[in-house]
Amino acid sequence: MSAKLSVVTLDGPAGVGKTTLARRLAENLGLCYLDTGAMFRSLAIRLGPDAEELSEGALRDRCNRWTFTMQGTGMKTRLFCNDERIGNEIRTETVGMLASKIARLSVVREVLSAAQRSMGERFALVAEGRDMGTVVFPDARYKFFLDASAEVRALRRMRDEANQEKHIELADLTEQIRRRDAMDRNRAIAPLRPAEDALIIDTSEMDINEVLGTMLRHISINGGMGDIQAS
Ligand code: DC
Repeated sequence: MSAKLSVVTLDGPAGVGKTTLARRLAENLGLCYLDTGAMFRSLAIRLGPDAEELSEGALRDRCNRWTFTMQGTGMKTRLFCNDERIGNEIRTETVGMLASKIARLSVVREVLSAAQRSMGERFALVAEGRDMGTVVFPDARYKFFLDASAEVRALRRMRDEANQEKHIELADLTEQIRRRDAMDRNRAIAPLRPAEDALIIDTSEMDINEVLGTMLRHISINGGMGDIQAS
């Protein structure tokens, strides 16, 4: 049997609550927290809207200018891009869509997956995204896949304090989330889907504490994290 990495993966569609849950799960387990969506979002802003038109070589060169690092553990984990703290400025649906577009490019996925994998080898962490359990950490110790209807997710996004686009109508946000889901689920490389060995949780009728409790129970009855430390 291959050795399991000290990683818990949390995958699922936009707005399902992964970020909040991953932070709280990391806090409970004393692990670091890796928001891979934030990596795609900040790279999308830095590459700009023309990234898809660049040659493979030029795109690789641009991607390699940015280095991601992590500090702290649990709720206090902070992610940096070239020493600049990534904050809530990336939390708009416009940036989410830009990120989803560059996430289809193999060079971008290659560069970011390598950075994510390297963090998983150095730190014990909760990693959230779209392909954590399937591609980046197939050997993670625990895998979860969270789902909920697009309507429920749009409502959650509107109530999320970190959301920077308060003016959007619920119907428009639901539509934008549906379009982003379709792009993330149907792309050729690393599409959004549950890993075969992931626990799938439909969170549509659950609150955050119920989902967190379900995940913590699953980890506990399956042996916990052992004597793992965050780093
Ligand atoms: O989780 P998020 O909404 O912050 O992610 C923004 C976009 O980044 C998402 O729509 C697709 C892409 N993404 C990805 O392709 N793979 C990941 N592991 C994380 C995000």
